[in-house]
Amino acid sequence: MDQGTSSDLILALETSCDETAVAVIRGQADLLASEVASQVEIHGRYGGVVPEVASRQHLTQLKPLLLLALEKAGVKMDELSAFAATAGPGLATSLMLGLSTAKGLAIGLDRPFLAVNHLEGHLLSPFFQKPGGVQPAIGLIVSGGHTILVDVAGVGEYHVLGQTRDDAAGEAFDKVAKLMGLPYPGGPEIDRLAATGDPRRFNLPRSMLHSDDFQFSFSGLKTAVRYLLPEVPPEAMADLAASFEEAVVDVLVAKTIRAARRRGRQTVCLSGGVSCNRRLRARFQEACDKSGLQLLLADPKLCTDNAAMIAYVAALRFAAGAISLLTTDINPNLSLR
Ligand code: KG4
Ligand code: ZN
Repeated sequence: MDQGTSSDLILALETSCDETAVAVIRGQADLLASEVASQVEIHGRYGGVVPEVASRQHLTQLKPLLLLALEKAGVKMDELSAFAATAGPGLATSLMLGLSTAKGLAIGLDRPFLAVNHLEGHLLSPFFQKPGGVQPAIGLIVSGGHTILVDVAGVGEYHVLGQTRDDAAGEAFDKVAKLMGLPYPGGPEIDRLAATGDPRRFNLPRSMLHSDDFQFSFSGLKTAVRYLLPEVPPEAMADLAASFEEAVVDVLVAKTIRAARRRGRQTVCLSGGVSCNRRLRARFQEACDKSGLQLLLADPKLCTDNAAMIAYVAALRFAAGAISLLTTDINPNLSLR
């Protein structure tokens, strides 16, 4: 396969869960289009993502979104240099649609096809359009499905330091919000409500805060909220949201900063949907400033699921001479190695 150049045009599809997304990138930093069709409203009716509903939505959304992205990018299909799609992790029936579409386009137009790991997309998103690109760092991925602490030595050189043993951070936000009667997805709702609350009003558990490892656990915190809830007066809901949020943030900040010290890294990067959280961003900034660490945050639009992050990884890999593999299948349990 050809070695990529700085003017390569890559079209990337992301359909791992409940967002259909298409992006077009030129080189590694010029994002020409990034379209996301959210299914939040549909899944909100059920209080969570329904896999079959998600895949049917991808099926109907993909083509119009693809054409819209090309139009916004001002690019014709046959001008594209390569096609990319998320191969995993995610919902099998959702992944299949994006991957098959990208492969079909690659076959039809005789272009390379690149399979991208969704987690690598999140992990590298804070480096996108930043001076120097990807650099050694401690990366924290906090999304609806994952909470992973990674030592990043460079592109493709990842050492997973630890992850959650039970609920992901975003899952805890969503479940606690549901207990509190807030709409799905709960993360942004708690973020909003917590802004007016007192984070010290309720003392909630900080599981594994002092364990000498980089593992996380959030299910005990969720259970603590469940038991506390009947005693919380309605006017104290904002305080409960703030106290919950603070407990999550305390653990994430402490363990990430500890990891940076232990691994001798000077940079910390946050990614995934939960990294949109305003309190999380502010507390990380404070902690990094205090410890003399550089903090890299992705633009909030690149924190939740999107195809720009998939296009970015594909562009980095393509430029480094990645091999086109049409035999690559989806892998719902794909890990970061
Ligand atoms: O990265 P993402 O879009 O999807 C996955 O790959 O899982 O993350 C979605 C998660 C949801 O759990 C959502 O509630 C959470 O990110 N989230 C937030 C915020 N915005 C999204 N959690 C806390 N505060 C937010 N502002
Ligand atoms: Zn994600």
